Amino acid sequence: MPVFTETAALDVLRRQDPELAEVVLGETARQADCLQLIAAENFCSPAVLAALGSPLANKYAEGYPGARHHGGCELVDVAERIAVERAKALYGAEHVNVQAHSGSSAVLAAYAVLLRPGDTVLAMGLPSGGHLTHGSPANFSGRWFDFVAYGVDPGTGLVDLDEVRALARAHRPKAIVCGSISYPRHLDYAGFRDIADDVGAHLIADAAHPMGLVAGGAAPNPVPYADIVCATTHKVLRGPRGGMLLCGAELADRVDRAVFPFTQGGAQMHTIAAKAVAFGEASTPAFTAYAHQVVANARVLAHTLEAEGFAVTTGGTDTHLVTVDPAPLGGTEGRTARGRLASAGLVLDTCALPHGVGRGLRLGTAAVTTQGMGEAEMARIGVLLSGVVRDALDVRAVREEVRDLAGRFPPYPAG
Ligand SMILES: Cc1ncc(COP(=O)(O)O)c(C=O)c1O
Repeated sequence: MPVFTETAALDVLRRQDPELAEVVLGETARQADCLQLIAAENFCSPAVLAALGSPLANKYAEGYPGARHHGGCELVDVAERIAVERAKALYGAEHVNVQAHSGSSAVLAAYAVLLRPGDTVLAMGLPSGGHLTHGSPANFSGRWFDFVAYGVDPGTGLVDLDEVRALARAHRPKAIVCGSISYPRHLDYAGFRDIADDVGAHLIADAAHPMGLVAGGAAPNPVPYADIVCATTHKVLRGPRGGMLLCGAELADRVDRAVFPFTQGGAQMHTIAAKAVAFGEASTPAFTAYAHQVVANARVLAHTLEAEGFAVTTGGTDTHLVTVDPAPLGGTEGRTARGRLASAGLVLDTCALPHGVGRGLRLGTAAVTTQGMGEAEMARIGVLLSGVVRDALDVRAVREEVRDLAGRFPPYPAG
């Protein structure tokens, strides 16, 4: 039995609200029973979940440690100070704001610091892997700022810094954003900094995806190069759902004011305590080994998928992310493939493709690596994925094999 079906807190929920308990238990079982290959997801530790489900959730705490608008903040102040100090040490940052409620909130705050409505911003276009906050017309960013998009090379899938520089020189943006929801390679932060300096722009690194790898020393750190780094705490980093901003001392006050009171209200102290726990976990040698295993697993997955006939964007990966075009496997489009894979218990997302035709599949190895899976399991998962997409394997048989595999690597093994 997974540990979270046995907690006293769940017993209370079962007794008081069986309808909701059923949802929570059902979702817990679903997560343990399928393979979670969504690149933005992970399993946070029981300690992180304990902080999230603690009475810190009751506390109102507008402001910052030592300067709150509410009384009774002595202990949550300690939690926030610990979170900030741990994150500063982890990333070598002069200042960290851990109050951002999400990655999007962190980006909103970064824009509030460095931009004014109507300013020009150069960011990766959404069809190439930019996030909604990088200029989508459906998002505040696209409405309030004038976004210019750089892309990726349609052939290689790689960012072309010559293109970025040419666009920067032509449009003179106030800020350049580097970061993506699906780019599987390391970004050249020094190269982006050089271009930003060339045109007098600020550099914002939206490192939501790689920041956990950075913590484990498995990806380059954007902190020395960007004016502000935005991140989420819930992807490879394995913390609670949330955001953070990292910057130099000179922007510290402006970043803090951009989060509270400019774009947010009271801090969520249970989440901040859980972030502190996650930063503590991410400082350990075990996390360093985990981060490197995440990348090793993604490389095997990419290699297997390529051998199976998928077109792997950029020919591989440096990170936890693998994006592929399933079309070479009998013309299957990404959305169809995702549906078939879901029935086999293989849960993943679709994504845009560099050549812009159809949808691809985006996979990540953070969650399955947390479960303890290694290269052998990745190779098998790649073969199963291919068999399901090309309709060469019986989906029910794959579902059974996936259930068996997931069962051998429970995300929350009994204590
Ligand atoms: C690059 C990037 N920026 C921002 C976000 C937004 O994070 P959230 O969903 O926490 O708002 C994401 C989420 O995946 C992301 O990948």
